[in-house]
Amino acid sequence: MSETLLKVGMIGAGSISNAHLKAAKEGAGVEVVAVCDIIEERAKIRSEEYDIPEVYTDHETLLKKADVDAVIIGVPNAVHHVIAINALKAGKHVLCEKPMAINVAAAEQMVAAAQDADKVLQVGLVHRMRPEAQYLRNLVVSGELGNVYYAKAMMIRRKGIPGWGSWFTTKEESGGGPLIDIGVHALDLAWFMIGNPKPVSVTGVTATAFGPYKRGVGKWGIPNWEGKYDVEDFAGGFVRFENGAVINLEVSWALHMPPETRINVCGEKKGALTAFNSTLQLYSEVDGELVDEPMEFEKTSMFNTQLKRFVAAVKGEEPVITPGEHGLIVNRMLEAIYESAAAGEEVRLD
Ligand SMILES: NC(=O)c1ccc[n+]([C@@H]2O[C@H](COP(=O)([O-])OP(=O)(O)OC[C@H]3O[C@@H](n4cnc5c(N)ncnc54)[C@H](O)[C@@H]3O)[C@@H](O)[C@H]2O)c1
Repeated sequence: MSETLLKVGMIGAGSISNAHLKAAKEGAGVEVVAVCDIIEERAKIRSEEYDIPEVYTDHETLLKKADVDAVIIGVPNAVHHVIAINALKAGKHVLCEKPMAINVAAAEQMVAAAQDADKVLQVGLVHRMRPEAQYLRNLVVSGELGNVYYAKAMMIRRKGIPGWGSWFTTKEESGGGPLIDIGVHALDLAWFMIGNPKPVSVTGVTATAFGPYKRGVGKWGIPNWEGKYDVEDFAGGFVRFENGAVINLEVSWALHMPPETRINVCGEKKGALTAFNSTLQLYSEVDGELVDEPMEFEKTSMFNTQLKRFVAAVKGEEPVITPGEHGLIVNRMLEAIYESAAAGEEVRLD
């Protein structure tokens, strides 16, 4: 095994650990030496599947005993900050799944811990790794679209409530429903594409029309029919930025609408549409004629790219692509959407 490989511990051996461990196996520049889950059986399964020598059931023991430079955190949202802060205090770099935390206060503590420890804190906002996302952001930043004044971000599932009754649908453990679960991706990607301007105000709406009746249930996660459902299944948000641009966000786990995943970015010179599928369409008008520019990108694994970029950031070869500071601002926007929805009025972010 090459000495240049980053030694990593995987914390959480549930569904998403598979994506991270597969990326590690496919040569992202890491060696996974330890895996941890409070359910030992799950950690053992991953240990066998991916040939990981050490198994733990407690992350603090892993941090003390395992010889790791970094950890990947793939546990329920409410535990992200506890484990991330412990890992950073133990001098480990952290790649933490999204959403960074269930609330802004916890996200702030994570950013402070990373700064104190001078370690990398990368948030798993993995859709930024898409080649078309990188390409479009560069176009926007270089002025190719002109002044960008509007973006629409949609992640609509018609029947996709994950793990009914599990931590996913229990607000205390997840922080919320589709807004914080998948809206985090759509909002972050649109925000990234328009150049990460400063958000100043937010209006939000949420609705719960399916979950309590056990309708709209999808295939991700393990249901617990004795559990509870106290989160939304639809959310809309309207975020206004300091530069005058807005993002209009629509997300659902379940909705009487066809599924749709896309982002529209509208500039004075050109518009762009991307559907999370390695394509990008640019639209404009030249000499009175409508011009469509369809583009296709290589289909790459977002999780492989994410891990490679984490390794590069740890080695100081490039800035962190999805830093904790960005995860925190995304958490601020999400929390403000919930607050606005509850209050029935706009929320200022100063
Ligand atoms: N990037 C993506 O697109 C994406 C997709 C799915 C899930 N996720 C995120 O990944 C995280 C995990 O989701 P999942 O679908 O794998 O959930 P999961 O329920 O399948 O797995 C979570 C695992 O964490 C374990 N766990 C709980 N508390 C723990 C602790 N204190 N220490 C160690 N292990 C602990 C559980 O036993 C479980 O095995 C969530 O934050 C979720 O939002 C991201």
